[in-house]
Amino acid sequence: MLLVTGGCGFIGSAFVLEWLRHSDEPLVNLDLLTYAGHLGNLAGVAEHPAYRFVRGDIADADLVGRLLAEHRPRAVVHFAAESHVDRSIAGPLAFVQTNVLGTARLLQATLAYWESLQQPEARSFRFLNVSTDEVYGSLEPDEAPFAETRQYEPNSPYSASKAAADHMVRAWFHTYGLPGLTTHCSNNYGPRQFPEKLIPLVIHNAIKGLPLPVYGDGQQVRDWLHVNDHCSAIRAVLERGAPGETYNIGGRSERTNLTVVNTICSALDTLRPRADGRGYAGQITHVEDRRGHDRRYAIDDRKIAAQLDWGPATHFDTGIRDTVKWYLGNAAWVESVTSGSYRQWIEQQYPTPRGA
Ligand code: NAD
Ligand code: TYD
Repeated sequence: MLLVTGGCGFIGSAFVLEWLRHSDEPLVNLDLLTYAGHLGNLAGVAEHPAYRFVRGDIADADLVGRLLAEHRPRAVVHFAAESHVDRSIAGPLAFVQTNVLGTARLLQATLAYWESLQQPEARSFRFLNVSTDEVYGSLEPDEAPFAETRQYEPNSPYSASKAAADHMVRAWFHTYGLPGLTTHCSNNYGPRQFPEKLIPLVIHNAIKGLPLPVYGDGQQVRDWLHVNDHCSAIRAVLERGAPGETYNIGGRSERTNLTVVNTICSALDTLRPRADGRGYAGQITHVEDRRGHDRRYAIDDRKIAAQLDWGPATHFDTGIRDTVKWYLGNAAWVESVTSGSYRQWIEQQYPTPRGA
């Protein structure tokens, strides 16, 4: 069986749903249910015989130790994190607490369990650390995409905290032999992404008639990947990846933020035209840039393609259209996650201009 952390978040829930669709191998999901975690994301599998949910903190080593001893997993798939760059700028210590200390405690508890295993279980055990391309820092427009050999240059408190976690996974492998692997994935999009991130925020604001906030000139570039493709890459790394290795995962879909926002607007123009007949692009509003904003991320995915035979299956234009359709069809989900703490964040991050 598998122990998944952070399975109630955006990517973790997609992974759990996909896992239970493809396999009858049991899975325990340990999630603290922070503002970003929603039980409703996994309502469809709550009663599945192979699924169990435990509410708790990855930093609670006693709890993690008990879960490992009771369920004896063959792998830990570690998604749990504070994941939003803007929140890390507003309050970095929560990112140190969860992403750095939380991962260290999880590693320690996992190490104790792994050291208790006999062969062949110890040899086949895996600790899969789900990380980000943001640890590599920012690319110039004409620079080659990030390969696994790229130097770490994290620029935000979020990416610095993820980089620290990656280094610990590496060190626990080299020092203790714990069979850890790290994946570095580019920006994900798809259903159930919390509407603080660019794509769901823009869809949400567009249909509410609100401004679509584009930071700075909107020419920053991200490499977008559908969340289900990220999950298929994680499954490939889990089954065929080599301990101690790192794998970069990307969508081969570099887009400027302005292009992404315009693509969403065009999809909405056909799927849900505005009552006044005008285009949603008219709601685009340039706002103050993010502090320390990375200009460009892009992934060189040749290693995972060649060694694990993985590549993205979803084209960006199709994936975005399906994502817009999902948000239009799931207004109740959006309503339920955009209550209290969401409104507080939006008010802090996008203050109403004075005099408006
Ligand atoms: P998310 O913010 O949607 O979900 C995070 C989940 O972790 C939530 O369910 C939350 O309740 C849980 N969690 C937080 N702190 C916890 C703790 N102390 N103990 C247990 N659970 C806790 O994040 P996401 O977008 O699904 O990202 C998942 C992972 O993938 C993260 O590690 C992130 O760094 C990484 N990643 C994300 C992206 C992306 O585009 N979203 C890209 C690459 C990598
Ligand atoms: P985001 O979804 O927060 O992901 P990340 O910062 O991890 O890449 O942001 C994606 C890009 O969109 C990033 O360049 C910042 C930009 N952005 C905006 O322009 N406006 C917004 O309101 C948000 C949330 C992000």
